[in-house]
Amino acid sequence: SASAGIRASGELAELARKVLPRAAYEFYAAGSDEEISVGEAAAAWRGRRLLPRVLRDVSSVETDVDLLGTRLASPVLAGPTAFHRMAHDEGETATAAGVAAAGSLLVLSSRATRHPEDVAAVAGPWWYQVYWLRDAEITRRQVDRAVAAGARALVLTVDAPYVPPRATSGLPLPLPEDDELCRSVGIGTRLPGWEQDPSLGLDAIGRLHRMSGLPVLVKGVLRADDARACVAAGAAGLIVSNHGGRQLDRAVSSADALPAVAAAVGTEVPVLVDGGIRTGTDVLVALALGARAVLLGRPVVWSLALGGAVGVTTLLDSYRAQLATSMALAGCARLADIDGELLYGGP
Ligand code: FNR
Repeated sequence: SASAGIRASGELAELARKVLPRAAYEFYAAGSDEEISVGEAAAAWRGRRLLPRVLRDVSSVETDVDLLGTRLASPVLAGPTAFHRMAHDEGETATAAGVAAAGSLLVLSSRATRHPEDVAAVAGPWWYQVYWLRDAEITRRQVDRAVAAGARALVLTVDAPYVPPRATSGLPLPLPEDDELCRSVGIGTRLPGWEQDPSLGLDAIGRLHRMSGLPVLVKGVLRADDARACVAAGAAGLIVSNHGGRQLDRAVSSADALPAVAAAVGTEVPVLVDGGIRTGTDVLVALALGARAVLLGRPVVWSLALGGAVGVTTLLDSYRAQLATSMALAGCARLADIDGELLYGGP
């Protein structure tokens, strides 16, 4: 089953590698440049040690969480990743159905290969990820469409003013050629106007909020000063991320960046985190370091490739089950019981 993959970091990827076309696997797996950051992400979580509490009543453990007014069964979300029809024929609709069945939330990529209305029809709660493009009219149309389809929040990705070289750059992606949307997103990034706007500044947060009427989370923050500036500019939440090691290579691991960002923001807005989270115990560590919730990138894609919607549900259920077990063993009956003092050496 897809869940077997989370027993050990890398196992799920290995299974998916066997079922995916090589170019698709390489595209999903790749980091940028020398692939230093992508290689370090999981180890940064696994390097932390816990100080479990004993003799707390852990006869019932709750993993449910409130995020911007939405109640979720688990603090493990599906993050935005591009081109799901390269992993599975149904693409993002299968992902969305699988996430909904697990009681979690999907962040739909603006480089999705299914239309937002089709995804919304089978999704539970979902947010829409935005790249602010050089042609702001394209961005506005994408945002309007996501709002009309029922997105509950926007996630503005800010760590990608340019796309750096990756091992697979320039290779043709094995997207379905008979599908107009796939053709357009596949070549979209090479069309004038479709590249991310590198002139973007802090005011984009407020502009996007006014354009949509939705809360705007900022994804790709690694520094305390940027975190404070984004919150002051109106961010409704932050996602600590180095984009799965696909943007600035040698950017610090999100596990190492998270404590300072969480300390800078306090409880003003939720701080989420992604990158290299491969087990439910990694989730426990992330919450102890100050995250309200985590997002999974590649594991969702691998599970989609292996088992479609059911694979995605199995994956998220496994993370939740393992998080609950680890919480109980650490003496935490609720997410609110998880704090920095659970970490050996402190957050
Ligand atoms: C991504 N990521 C990403 N982020 C984003 O904001 N918009 C996007 O369209 C994409 N697309 C994308 C495609 C692929 C194949 C990957 C691997 C990643 C980054 C993603 O949201 C997330 O930050 C990382 O994937 C998290 O790291 P892990 O869980 O993959 O290690």
